[in-house]
Amino acid sequence: MGSVPYDRIGDDSSLRQLYLWDPLKSFIGAVLGKSRLHRFADPLGACSVNVFVDGGEHGWHFDESEFSVTLMLQAPESGGAFEYVPRIRGNHEEEAIVAAVLDGDRARVLELPFTEGTLLIFGGRQTLHRVTRVGGARPRLVPVLTYAERPGLKNSETVRKLFWGRTGTENA
Ligand SMILES: [Fe+2]
Repeated sequence: MGSVPYDRIGDDSSLRQLYLWDPLKSFIGAVLGKSRLHRFADPLGACSVNVFVDGGEHGWHFDESEFSVTLMLQAPESGGAFEYVPRIRGNHEEEAIVAAVLDGDRARVLELPFTEGTLLIFGGRQTLHRVTRVGGARPRLVPVLTYAERPGLKNSETVRKLFWGRTGTENA
């Protein structure tokens, strides 16, 4: 998976304007039951675009963050399905369920349809999920809009280096 950093998303772009639009932030806070939500202060990771090209995929995992907000922007020609097994973290059968899913058991696996324009507010810490392998010339594009309950939060420098190969903006 590649990622287009926030400083490469133009000031006039609809995506940046959407991210900076306070009613969206309020709406997401209301859905999550969080009264104070802040935009992320990370110069690269505040709002970025996940890019999966031909052959790209993201294996089964739980997220570190409690929730994530993504926008289904462009579906690939094939694959790129978002599959998930909801609310299994902390379940007494967690290990058995994860083992079965990794073994190819599809009984509990759900698939979210990739409908362009869908805003997804997702609790990835509790829900096992993956993106299946993408095929074809058209990349799968999914912006990630990052919010936090405290102001001024950023990714660590290690994470920024890992995702974008640098820690500051290109002009800094
Ligand atoms: Fe994830």
